[in-house]
Amino acid sequence: MAEFTLPANSKVKIGDTHKASGDAKRVRAFKIYRYDPDKGENPRLDTFEVDLDACGPMVLDALIKIKNEIDPSVTFRRSCREGICGSCSMNIDGTNTLACLKPIDEVRGDVKIYPLPHMEVIKDLVPDLSTAYAQLASVEPWLKTKTPPPPTTERLQSIEDREKLDGMWECVLCFSCSTSCPSYWWNGERYLGPAVLLQAYRWIADSRDEYTGERLDDLEDPFRLYRCHTIMNCTKTCPKGLNPAKAIAEIKKMLVMRR
Ligand code: F3S
Ligand code: FES
Repeated sequence: MAEFTLPANSKVKIGDTHKASGDAKRVRAFKIYRYDPDKGENPRLDTFEVDLDACGPMVLDALIKIKNEIDPSVTFRRSCREGICGSCSMNIDGTNTLACLKPIDEVRGDVKIYPLPHMEVIKDLVPDLSTAYAQLASVEPWLKTKTPPPPTTERLQSIEDREKLDGMWECVLCFSCSTSCPSYWWNGERYLGPAVLLQAYRWIADSRDEYTGERLDDLEDPFRLYRCHTIMNCTKTCPKGLNPAKAIAEIKKMLVMRR
């Protein structure tokens, strides 16, 4: 059997432990990945004990409490704290999800928190999403038309056509799905990944968009689209309950049907 070992400077070391105060009754340990590329040290896993009686219910609440009250250098992204902005995606208890939507009570034992997998780490829980955003821009995720707009109305859409976009417009671009996909891990520079392909299909499926053919041409590529091998991690992990694998299958079907 093949054996894989991490390079010596990537091995995660045991870090510092911050104990809860003696009068805390409902203590839970949060083990948080810490890495600062500027320091040139190995990553480490710090342990922070938190009194859940003095903390909000979500993992993001605990992270904010830890940053505010124990160690201000703990670094993570967050903004809306209600599953809308997509900033707080990270790997919690082995699953990519949004920290603000993940109840602490759903995790048994210590709460282990890592950055999204297989991405360069900028610091602690902050991954470098530059490539993912460039890939998103490459599918031109906005309405593209060839005909002039109607003089007195907006570009209208039937209720049925509007409903076809349900399950896609809700995506908050947290990239939990793309970073759970083994194909994206191995070919992330060339395969667009499920988050971006869901966005691509959102515009392909929009009855008002007039660039469907060009959009499909752009995706008909052994890497950009066809590196999806229907592994389904993307759909399993989506914290918003969306189905990027289905969107990818729809794109593949449209490419077959137009031949
Ligand atoms: Fe990856 Fe989802 Fe396809 S996990 S291989 S994008 S079905
Ligand atoms: Fe906005 Fe979690 S803070 S999605």
